[in-house]
Amino acid sequence: MKIKELLTAGIGTIMIAASIGFALLVTGCSSGEESLQSPDGRLSLTTGLKDGRAWYTLKRDGKTIASSSSLGFKLQDGSLKEGLKLNAARHDSFDETWVQPWGEEIEVRNHYNELTLELQEAEGKQRKMDIVFRLFNDGLGFRYNFPEQENLKEFVIMDEETEYTFPTDARSWSIPTNTTYYEALFTPEPLSQKDTVSTPVTMEVADDLYLVLHEANLTDYACMNLTPVQKENAPEGSVTVRTALTPWSTGEKVFASAPFATPWRTIIVADKPGDLILSRLMLNLNEPCRIEDTSWIEPGRYIGIWWAIHMNNYTWCQGPKHGATTENTMRYIDFAAKHNFSGVLVEGWNYGWDGDWSLYGHLFDFCKPYPDYDLEKLAEYARQKGVRLIAHNETGGAARNYEQQLDSAFALYQRLGINSVKTGYVNALMDHKELQHSQYGVRHYRKVIETAAKYGIMIDNHEPAMPTGLQRTYPNLMTQEGVRGQEWNAWSTDGGNPPEHTCTLPFTRGLAGPMDFTPGIFNFSNPVLPETHPHTTLAKQLALYVVLFSPLQMAADMIENYENQPAFSFITSCPTTWAKTVVPNAKIGEYVTIARRDRHSSNWFIGSITDAEPRTIEVSLDFLEPGASYKATFYEDGEGADYRTNPYPVKITEKEVNSDTTLTLQLAPGGGAAVRIEKI
Ligand code: NOJ
Ligand code: CA
Repeated sequence: MKIKELLTAGIGTIMIAASIGFALLVTGCSSGEESLQSPDGRLSLTTGLKDGRAWYTLKRDGKTIASSSSLGFKLQDGSLKEGLKLNAARHDSFDETWVQPWGEEIEVRNHYNELTLELQEAEGKQRKMDIVFRLFNDGLGFRYNFPEQENLKEFVIMDEETEYTFPTDARSWSIPTNTTYYEALFTPEPLSQKDTVSTPVTMEVADDLYLVLHEANLTDYACMNLTPVQKENAPEGSVTVRTALTPWSTGEKVFASAPFATPWRTIIVADKPGDLILSRLMLNLNEPCRIEDTSWIEPGRYIGIWWAIHMNNYTWCQGPKHGATTENTMRYIDFAAKHNFSGVLVEGWNYGWDGDWSLYGHLFDFCKPYPDYDLEKLAEYARQKGVRLIAHNETGGAARNYEQQLDSAFALYQRLGINSVKTGYVNALMDHKELQHSQYGVRHYRKVIETAAKYGIMIDNHEPAMPTGLQRTYPNLMTQEGVRGQEWNAWSTDGGNPPEHTCTLPFTRGLAGPMDFTPGIFNFSNPVLPETHPHTTLAKQLALYVVLFSPLQMAADMIENYENQPAFSFITSCPTTWAKTVVPNAKIGEYVTIARRDRHSSNWFIGSITDAEPRTIEVSLDFLEPGASYKATFYEDGEGADYRTNPYPVKITEKEVNSDTTLTLQLAPGGGAAVRIEKI
């Protein structure tokens, strides 16, 4: 960053010195306090040592957000948290703007002030540990660094004891850690009443204070979970949650070797729910892109031989109802070409599905197609039509079997022009033993992403470890599941996802990264389980294309259900990567409106959704270019639409609008509205 920019940004001389590489050293202050401010001065962090233990506090506008919270580890070789001294404190600052190959906006500003505490045990082994704090305008990130040193080489983390103490309890959304594949409904309870939960945890502290606890850049580590703890001498009314890392089957949490850095622990701080969606703190705390040429990475829409399998019309395995046949796939390719979809997902194309495929030890072959699926011919047919097959790689949790085939499978796909793979790990454990969100799982997923990058392959990962912003470094990691998605509306015996679910996701799981939720069901009848179907109107299915961000976005229904449906034109016109995002209004779990501008035109798209309550939503179009005229096409809940009784009516209308226009959208119970705004 240039010095002039720093001055205009109002940053004092000290920071200028720091930003151009002169660290400020503070030595010999073993019990002193250090402080740090966000670039806009609203957030302030104080940290230091008390009785040899590291702690931090966080304030906004002088008011406490996190009161004194302690830091440290239990290692196999004794704890690393007590008896510490401060060797030095270094300040630094940073400001750059980087470009996303795809995303919710093009440019991201990475602007923070940094403080590093260099700590060391005063006695005994005298092991060293640094804690790095970065304060952004939208929150805090901090991580532990274990520098190279004599008395700490290979080491085992038994527990990370990072704590977050809040002065008051808060309504908080999360899912329990023991949820399989994170496929659960986020429910709001007071933070103090939670069991051990996965992050993100989204807290509504006050009308003007929202916090999200999560992590960034999860590399060779275990996923973070949080658990409430009772602290002795805790201030009246305060609540403390402590990190609970996902363990290996043998109980250890992380095997490490110095030099070693943990993922960043993050607290997003926002005045209103919509600002949570605009925070780029997690991406900023990941490493810059490691893929030199990203031109082959192509966001897009896809359809698939998929919903019909979940509805029991087809099977994954061979037999009379096999879905992945050559003929059927050609039908899907034709449809994709006609309606401008870039990909066709085909599930059940390869050997391994016969018998109970989710049993332990069941092994898939990722190169060998079933006899009724002519892979070579289909790849060529797709190529001629300008469409690509998406290979499905269900592993049944057999990660090692998959790793053994990664190179040969990805080389085959590359030769055939297949540039995306949907991976899956349906099994309670990986390789009979380890949790998906353990260090074992995290290592496996990284290997898949890195190998895929070598072969020019994009990844859509199902049954993942919780995303942490890795797509900045590896933008071929397009989208992931780890969410209770649309498939639950096919077979869940509880009837499917309730209307508030998609009004909660943008503020919870959606903050961890793109979701392969797979919207777009048009036919709600379910012969097998009549009570199970989307609890939305059809217009709300359309609005989800804007509300739920994913650079690979599926139109999930069977293609026959899109024939002669005027509402389908919203899906086929809606981009999957954006130049800009705004959130005109939102209340977590109740309603949300998101507007996004296309990357390749001046067109805007709006999605507005509600829970079970009907609502009138006003949306000011002040984000449009002043003075310009636009044609708006509305896809709204039609006469009598109601998710319980009559989900289908969609009213499609047009009107001229400009930046002075305020739209009034009528959302039915469980309804939504989708709007396309094209510059005239
Ligand atoms: C679970 C995935 O989420 C779903 O999309 C897929 O069809 C099945 N596993 C089978 O792999
Ligand atoms: Ca799933």
